[in-house]
Amino acid sequence: MSIHYVLIFFLLFLTPFCNSDDQLTHTKPLTHSDTLISKSGNFALGFFSPTTSNNSFYLGIWYHGIPGPRTVVWIANRDSPIITPSSGMLIVTNNSHMVLSNSKGQNIWTSTGNITAGAAIAHAVLLDSGNFVLRLPNGMDIWQSFDHPTDTILPSMKFLMSYKSQVVGRLVSWKGHDDPSSGDFSCSSDPSSPNLQFFTWNKTRPYCRIGVESGLSVSGGTYVTNTSSILYQTTIYSGDEFYYMFTISGDPAFTRIKLEYTGKLKFLSWNNHSSSWAIISERPSAACDLYASCGQFSYCDFTQIIPACQCLSGFEPVDGINFSKGCRRKQALKCGKQSHFVALPGMYVPDKFLHIRNKSFDECIAECSHNCSCTAYAYANLSSVGALADPSRCLVWSEELIDVKKGTLEGGNVVAVKRLSKGSTQGIVEFKNEVVLIAKLQHKNLVRLLGCCIHEDEKLLIYEYLPNKSLDAFLFDATRKHVLDWLTRFNIIKGISRGLLYLHQDSRLTIIHRDLKASNILLDTRMTPKISDFGMARIFGADQNQANTTRVVGTYGYMSPEYAMRGAFSVKSDTYSFGVLLLEIVSGLKISSAHLITKFSGLIGYAWRLWEDGKAIQLVDSSVMASCPLNEVLRCIHVGLLCVQDHASDRPLMSSVMFMLENETALLPVPKQPVYFALSNCGNGEGSESMENSINTVSITTLDGR
Ligand SMILES: *[C@@H]1O[C@H](CO)[C@@H](O)[C@H](O)[C@H]1NC(C)=O
Ligand SMILES: *[C@@H]1O[C@H](CO)[C@@H](O)[C@H](O)[C@H]1NC(C)=O
Ligand SMILES: *[C@@H]1O[C@H](CO)[C@@H](O)[C@H](O)[C@H]1NC(C)=O
Ligand SMILES: *[C@@H]1O[C@H](CO)[C@@H](O)[C@H](O)[C@H]1NC(C)=O
Ligand SMILES: *[C@@H]1O[C@H](CO)[C@@H](O)[C@H](O)[C@H]1NC(C)=O
Ligand SMILES: *[C@@H]1O[C@H](CO)[C@@H](O)[C@H](O)[C@H]1NC(C)=O
Ligand SMILES: *[C@@H]1O[C@H](CO)[C@@H](O)[C@H](O)[C@H]1NC(C)=O
Ligand SMILES: *[C@@H]1O[C@H](CO)[C@@H](O)[C@H](O)[C@H]1NC(C)=O
Ligand SMILES: *[C@@H]1O[C@H](CO)[C@@H](O)[C@H](O)[C@H]1NC(C)=O
Ligand SMILES: *[C@@H]1O[C@H](CO)[C@@H](O)[C@H](O)[C@H]1NC(C)=O
Ligand SMILES: *[C@@H]1O[C@H](CO)[C@@H](O)[C@H](O)[C@H]1NC(C)=O
Ligand SMILES: *[C@@H]1O[C@H](CO)[C@@H](O)[C@H](O)[C@H]1NC(C)=O
Repeated sequence: MSIHYVLIFFLLFLTPFCNSDDQLTHTKPLTHSDTLISKSGNFALGFFSPTTSNNSFYLGIWYHGIPGPRTVVWIANRDSPIITPSSGMLIVTNNSHMVLSNSKGQNIWTSTGNITAGAAIAHAVLLDSGNFVLRLPNGMDIWQSFDHPTDTILPSMKFLMSYKSQVVGRLVSWKGHDDPSSGDFSCSSDPSSPNLQFFTWNKTRPYCRIGVESGLSVSGGTYVTNTSSILYQTTIYSGDEFYYMFTISGDPAFTRIKLEYTGKLKFLSWNNHSSSWAIISERPSAACDLYASCGQFSYCDFTQIIPACQCLSGFEPVDGINFSKGCRRKQALKCGKQSHFVALPGMYVPDKFLHIRNKSFDECIAECSHNCSCTAYAYANLSSVGALADPSRCLVWSEELIDVKKGTLEGGNVVAVKRLSKGSTQGIVEFKNEVVLIAKLQHKNLVRLLGCCIHEDEKLLIYEYLPNKSLDAFLFDATRKHVLDWLTRFNIIKGISRGLLYLHQDSRLTIIHRDLKASNILLDTRMTPKISDFGMARIFGADQNQANTTRVVGTYGYMSPEYAMRGAFSVKSDTYSFGVLLLEIVSGLKISSAHLITKFSGLIGYAWRLWEDGKAIQLVDSSVMASCPLNEVLRCIHVGLLCVQDHASDRPLMSSVMFMLENETALLPVPKQPVYFALSNCGNGEGSESMENSINTVSITTLDGR
């Protein structure tokens, strides 16, 4: 086995210029003996048979270059195997579909892409993320395997659980350990409460309830794994979309979530040392973790060494020590008064609730207390998530409480015109396209773009008008900075992170802003921050996660190292700018302030030095010191330092940033020392205006600022 491994390694080394191994084109079909290998060799795609007992062949994706049995992460034709192996063939058709055919020439699987009429023919690429995409020559992806998971979730895959309250994504287990056909177990959100809970099902029966969302727009956790990489997990509710995503920092570690044929949902990570998959976590994890195993008014207590059923307070077991019949009230229920309700902090809300729409907190209590069959209620106000038609979450329970667990619900036409640079190299068509797309974006933390006009050489963008001007006008002005007390600043930080998250993940597109800075954050009369100036924004294709440019546009100090030096930008370069902005908001100091540059090589260096010395609190703007809770402000500085780390892969995605800001108990990884800041400010002492730096010609020209 190890010889085999070395050989593959060696072959890859011998053929570094043969870079089409990861691609399938219209002219070159994939036959039975061919394999596509992703660029860095993480994944392979081809035909395989999971068993030697018959000749069932499947088209799938598996980890490449790890020893041991093949670990399959995706299958195209799980329920229609190819029986004559030599006949299987995958082609890209001349109308940009992918078609898998068998010996009889029958199509047994087709990718259902969104084809643009008249477009050039697409090619398929196996990416290093394990995503297999069908890509048009203009870089647009029209189909991706990540949208059609089988039983596995991979890092950075957006697992869409529901869209507009309809269940969308579903993991379906294999039938047996060597039989990939659809098995009995599946994982999906609950059709009766699609934005609120997630289940593993045994056929149609609930098997294990994975969780109830806290009511926050972002929830999840951060974990430091054995290899000291950081795992960020988030569940995101954006109004229309309810999705799950996890990412891992540092090395592109081999980490995955798999619904096994036994019904267990496992979080697994490749342990290079023992050459095996280690289990990070699994569900169900204990006997009482199975759905409703504790009976009514009883819950599975995970704080015990061996988790066991317990009665809710005020209840006793119906049947001695056997909890399967559940618990009953010690005293009969009296009806009509709110005082009979007992708060149950630190619990997952029980199943079988009724979601009563459009209720205020008081109306929700009334709903329950006026109805004798109502046994419990929970309430959340999601107005901070964005413009939801009905932000209220009033859940009521009648009769028994079932499957109680761990978190409770908590709530949580004047226009401005901007002129873009003349002679921008962007074509008019592209400009119009981008503007039309951006104009469709709607989020309370983004400035509405109302329109644009193009007149000869001039390109104008028309924004909604905000009377309060930009953040820098307050933050760096000694006479006005007191307006921004800590609560306002913290709300501004969270608002910006929400707006950025929307740009990166929640809108249908991935949009990189590329010029986030204090002067691009506008404030309305209620000090709600709105990200503006999309003049430099770039829209990414569905799976594109990085791009290079020879024209570096942006603002010194806010630019990430990889962008300023190599022109490489991604959502993580926005994370960097956000980190700088966050440190500015906390400190009230400009990234470009001259005395910091001479003394500490800039704000980041200053912040890092204080943090290292345990004196981070000295960074805080003296005008907010009195109004700020220490833990909150220190958490902000910590998150800021995570965002400005030198390596893009170490920086969290905005979903994790939001989660870390909103969850007081979230574990924060230790930030690495940023070294780049020492270099970044040499070139430009002032640095507050936008710069356009052409890497090829090394000329610097100034763009028209706002
Ligand atoms: C596409 O392929 C089909 C079948 O291979 C062929 O009949 C058709 O003429 C082709 N169309 C174009 C536009 O090449
Ligand atoms: C296909 O793309 C068009 C334009 O982008 C969009 O309006 C349409 O909804 C898409 N259809 C599907 C099935 O995704
Ligand atoms: C192939 O063999 C496996 C393992 O015995 C079995 O589970 C599967 O159903 C078989 N497939 C077919 C098509 O016979
Ligand atoms: C799944 O449900 C079936 C009945 O439909 C039952 O026989 C089987 O034991 C269940 N599986 C598990 C793992 O509980
Ligand atoms: C795995 O271990 C081998 C040998 O111990 C080492 O050469 C290789 O770089 C390691 N791979 C990763 C991803 O850490
Ligand atoms: C972490 O380390 C412990 C002890 O060394 C080991 O038992 C466990 O499997 C490791 N977990 C992972 C995910 O590698
Ligand atoms: C608990 O009660 C259930 C149903 O009445 C029964 O099937 C089970 O065997 C009992 N368990 C114990 C440990 O007595
Ligand atoms: C919610 O209730 C208010 C008054 O109670 C009503 O004006 C509003 O139209 C309702 N909204 C929805 C979405 O039902
Ligand atoms: C939710 O909270 C917002 C802001 O705190 C408030 O304006 C709104 O009235 C609340 N909605 C309900 C239904 O209580
Ligand atoms: C009381 O609650 C039950 C269950 O939630 C519901 O079916 C019933 O309609 C309610 N009764 C009234 C009068 O609201
Ligand atoms: C960007 O350039 C780097 C080398 O500077 C290269 O490794 C990377 O693949 C390029 N990315 C894209 C998307 O072209
Ligand atoms: C907050 O973070 C902790 C630790 O990561 C996690 O256990 C908890 O579930 C999180 N709470 C929410 C509401 O996501």
